[in-house]
Amino acid sequence: MTRNPAKPFRSREWFAAPGRSDMAALYLERFMNYGLTPAELRSGKPIIGIAQSGSDLAPCNRIHVDLARRVREGIRDAGGIPMEFPLMPIFENCRRPTAAIDRNLAYMTLVETLYGYPIDAVVLTTGCDKTTPSQVMAASTVDIPAIVLSGGPMLDGWHNGELVGSGTVIWRARRKLAAGEITEEEFLDRATDSAPSAGHCNTMGTASTMNAVAEALGLSLPGCSAIPAPYRERGQMAYETGRRIVDMAYEDLRPSKVLTREAFLNAIRLVSAVGGSSNAQPHIMAMAAHAGVELTARDWVEYGYDLPLILNMQPAGAYLGERFHRAGGVPAILHELIVSGHLDGDCFTVTGKSIAENVAGRETNDREMIRTVAQPLREKAGYLVLSGNLFDFGILKTSVISEDFRRRYLSRPGEENIFEAKAVVFDGSDDYHHRINDPSLGIDENTILVIRGAGPIGWPGSAEVVNMQPPDALIRQGIDTLPTLGDGRQSGTSDSPSILNVSPESAVGGGLAWLRDGDMIRIDLNSGTCNALVDDAEIARRKEEGGIPEVPESHSPWEELFREKTGQLDKGGVLDFALKYRGIAAITPRH
Ligand code: FES
Ligand code: MG
Repeated sequence: MTRNPAKPFRSREWFAAPGRSDMAALYLERFMNYGLTPAELRSGKPIIGIAQSGSDLAPCNRIHVDLARRVREGIRDAGGIPMEFPLMPIFENCRRPTAAIDRNLAYMTLVETLYGYPIDAVVLTTGCDKTTPSQVMAASTVDIPAIVLSGGPMLDGWHNGELVGSGTVIWRARRKLAAGEITEEEFLDRATDSAPSAGHCNTMGTASTMNAVAEALGLSLPGCSAIPAPYRERGQMAYETGRRIVDMAYEDLRPSKVLTREAFLNAIRLVSAVGGSSNAQPHIMAMAAHAGVELTARDWVEYGYDLPLILNMQPAGAYLGERFHRAGGVPAILHELIVSGHLDGDCFTVTGKSIAENVAGRETNDREMIRTVAQPLREKAGYLVLSGNLFDFGILKTSVISEDFRRRYLSRPGEENIFEAKAVVFDGSDDYHHRINDPSLGIDENTILVIRGAGPIGWPGSAEVVNMQPPDALIRQGIDTLPTLGDGRQSGTSDSPSILNVSPESAVGGGLAWLRDGDMIRIDLNSGTCNALVDDAEIARRKEEGGIPEVPESHSPWEELFREKTGQLDKGGVLDFALKYRGIAAITPRH
């Protein structure tokens, strides 16, 4: 069967080069050394890139090194030519000063690769946190047909008969260690037991959240994101994804046809319903910005807050990734949201069909894991956005506010969802670690722990440090959570009820810069406000006095450039100048 592409493949400009066989010859020669022939490259078949995100330095995505073979088979069987190439490594919890600085760099390098080489369509191999948004952002800028293949989470972790989820176990065991309930060795055992196989984090941390988001956006085949990495189905999904991208190349099914405002609103809804990571906020904002879709901070509250938590997965719930997959994965969540009227099922996807068509009949068979909207784990469990005299934007993930925290801070009669606390301010995480157990700070139950200097410019990159643990002495008294606030982020696996991603950050003169120890902060979740109870004259005086806390120097060329060009987290922390480039594959690069 001969197939005609909806429009000529761009790789023809390289290999078929009408009237320039001298040029084509140059381009063709080197590909033969691994088996491709000039005849094949000139045959008019689409060339399908496989953006390889796995490596020894990116262990969460390393499964893709093996999966790529299945992707290639799918591409070949469907009549395409695979060409695999590396994405720069992004490994969330090993990269210093933070993997967040890599998202925009990986974005830029992938844009250049997709634009400057003869690639007609691409498989984006995702897993660890930033590997999803960086590649989706690049696919929008270039706008060639693109499909997301998740690597999948690790198998469930078990420790002494108890489920232990990656990341989440660290935060929980750290509190037990501080309380003197476990030894260092036991701490390490719990951590290693949480990671029993290849794959990304098995909790609904940032990795699982962002892969689920890609699926909800319509960028992957239904069911793709939740299949555990070592499962047989994962390899089959890789093969099917390889097959499908070839058809997408012929159909010219580009990201710009999928990534609409409605698709992004669906993504926000999904994140709320699954108790997804607070890092989804900057990443979804960034992907929308690069797709040319206008999304605002208010959208998180308007479309996300009222939704209930229906997925029983750590850190907001009890279980882990294997059970999520067996319960139906993302299709079962989308199905539940559609039948309850909470999701736009008309959005178009990479299957060539709508979300509603993709998930028809995919109701869960495990109501312990995936609840109905009518009987959820928690009502109104989405995100709240706060503002006030300290910042214009801060976000709070309400699905992880514990009953104990609600009772202590949010249930005063007549003042429900309102509390005041005394600030103790730390300049970055070293300062926090040095001083948190210093009794002279007077930290008690009525303290809010504040961290600054942790945003995109201050850190640089924006660090996952806001989920600060109370002093050991307080934990031993049974107070294992205090309110926290900061211009950094926190891990998606954390169960801390923090006010995060505060923008503008202190390093660019945001209000946290003038905040002092002992200032009272009033947080009103009803009105979405957070204010330091400091009068305007005093604020003006402090600003006059200056003294924005110092931030470390840049230590690499990229750190310097990142600081110069990156915006604040409320808008996704994107490279603002890059947003004007969109759909650049339509321009043939010069020879
Ligand atoms: Fe890579 Fe969690 S650290 S997925
Ligand atoms: Mg993280």
